[in-house]
Amino acid sequence: MEYKGRIRDRAGRTYVVSLDNDEEDDPDQIDVLDSKEESIGYVRFDIDKGEMSICDITISEKEYRHCGLGTALLRYVIKWAKGRGVKTIIGDVAPEMPGDKEWLLKWYSDNGFEILPKRPESKISRAIAAIRMSL
Ligand SMILES: CC(C)(COP(=O)(O)OP(=O)(O)OC[C@H]1O[C@@H](n2cnc3c(N)ncnc32)[C@H](O)[C@@H]1OP(=O)(O)O)[C@@H](O)C(=O)NCCC(=O)NCCS
Repeated sequence: MEYKGRIRDRAGRTYVVSLDNDEEDDPDQIDVLDSKEESIGYVRFDIDKGEMSICDITISEKEYRHCGLGTALLRYVIKWAKGRGVKTIIGDVAPEMPGDKEWLLKWYSDNGFEILPKRPESKISRAIAAIRMSL
């Protein structure tokens, strides 16, 4: 099934977001597309029994960072999850660069997540903390 929506960056530019969850076993992924329909970022997640686990969120094309797109994508996936009956969102905070640690924690907190200690079961070795939100 393919599903399309829209998000806006801070300057009001519109981007299509696309969810394709054909692969039964893979985590679902919402991609942010540029005007050529190329992916410039994504959020990957699993949903199990009303719990969404965010595996990764990234604006992979660096020239698109700092424009508010990451925030728009995070807010989009929260709203999308809510609409599908998800009750809790969890995830790991795993900064790409060690220097990103402080602002990334603040970013999640500012966007409504509780910051928790790193989960012992986390498969991501660079994870520094966990996040949780009740919807
Ligand atoms: C995390 C990520 C998705 C954020 O996307 P983004 O589009 O760059 O973020 P936004 O433009 O929405 O920024 C939101 C806020 O985060 C903060 N922020 C973003 N990048 C920052 C940086 N490099 N340094 C400090 N603060 C930063 C700022 O407070 C910013 O708001 P402001 O621009 O009004 O000051 C993106 O930086 C990314 O892909 N990082 C690499 C992958 C990664 O570490 N993912 C997180 C895994 S847990």
